[in-house]
Amino acid sequence: MTETELITNPTKIEQSSFLAACRSGNSGKLPLWVMRQAGRYLPEYQAVREKVSFMELCRSPNLMAEVTEQPVRRFGFDAAIMFSDILPILEGFGLELSFPGGGPKLVPQLGDPREVEKLTEYDVAGKLAFVYDGVREIKKRMPDIPLIGFAGSPWTLACYAIEGGSSPNFNSARKFIHRYPGAARKLLEMITEATSIYLAGQIKAGVDAIQIFDSCAGVLAHDDYRDWSLKYIVRIFESLTNTGVPRILFVNNLAPYVDLIRDVDCEVVGVDYRMKLSEAEASLPGKALQGNFDPTALFAPPETVAARVTTMLESIKDHSRLIVNLGHGILPQTPLESVSALVETVHSFNR
Ligand code: CP3
Repeated sequence: MTETELITNPTKIEQSSFLAACRSGNSGKLPLWVMRQAGRYLPEYQAVREKVSFMELCRSPNLMAEVTEQPVRRFGFDAAIMFSDILPILEGFGLELSFPGGGPKLVPQLGDPREVEKLTEYDVAGKLAFVYDGVREIKKRMPDIPLIGFAGSPWTLACYAIEGGSSPNFNSARKFIHRYPGAARKLLEMITEATSIYLAGQIKAGVDAIQIFDSCAGVLAHDDYRDWSLKYIVRIFESLTNTGVPRILFVNNLAPYVDLIRDVDCEVVGVDYRMKLSEAEASLPGKALQGNFDPTALFAPPETVAARVTTMLESIKDHSRLIVNLGHGILPQTPLESVSALVETVHSFNR
């Protein structure tokens, strides 16, 4: 038996409720995972973070595997998401990434098109090898759990690069595309190219599905969303078609763009908490859906959480193509009893 055969178990993974749902054919119990499931709401994550910085954690394959495993072991989630972040890929373009006081900071800020002109192509596999090593370590430890790899959308990464960090509405990035369309295109194309290579590398290292986070989708006008975000996501998905690995697109604020998303060649659409799941179901025939419980609603008492989750699950018709998740990342300080109530309600749901 080769080493690869020893560390992966394709049949068991293929039969998982998560992958069956990704392919819109799940007849078993409903699969569930949670965006940002490894993170600060978990005491065992905090214990690791007391010893190392966030970036040290991301760069250590062993620690990456340890924190990826924590929520799966504690709650019995049906998929793991590799622990990393969407921003380290930008370091390869020469940007310096740090998290002073929590939020990300990127230097130099690409607010000036001359900074974009200075960017050069780079060696993704070399710069992000620690992520691939982490994926292999996770697969060794959890061969039977489907593993999700991910990247930020080119638009979302450009937003962070242009702003130099987080922003309430990414106005500098929105202005940038209209003021400097040439530089904006160059930046988006470079990120698109690097992201295609990066995700193909994650798949080669062993992830069973990939998700693109378009977290900054919601700030764009409808047609600009098509021209400045979706266009590049479509290219990345196209480059991965032959891998056979399910492609998930999470659009943060899906409702305004749902007509555009209908035509995207991907298996799964992640629905944010603002949209009615039943409307996403009606608007996205042939796509599996992932979502969309409001992360702040986990701060209600566990009984209320259970009742609300049931209402959400009962609101749709076709459960064969549902992956239950939150409608955005789980928040620090989320009560662990509420997460347990979510898991128990989903796993005992009788369709
Ligand atoms: O989902 C998972 O469990 C995998 C890990 C993961 C993280 N970030 C870990 C993280 C994933 C998938 C991400 C994606 C990510 N990162 C997004 C897209 C998803 C979204 O929320 O819309 C974005 C926009 C980022 C950028 C980022 N990383 C920000 C804005 C911050 C600081 C604010 C915050 O939420 O803490 C981070 C840091 C970060 N990424 C933490 C974690 C667990 C907190 C770091 C810590 O331990 O202090």
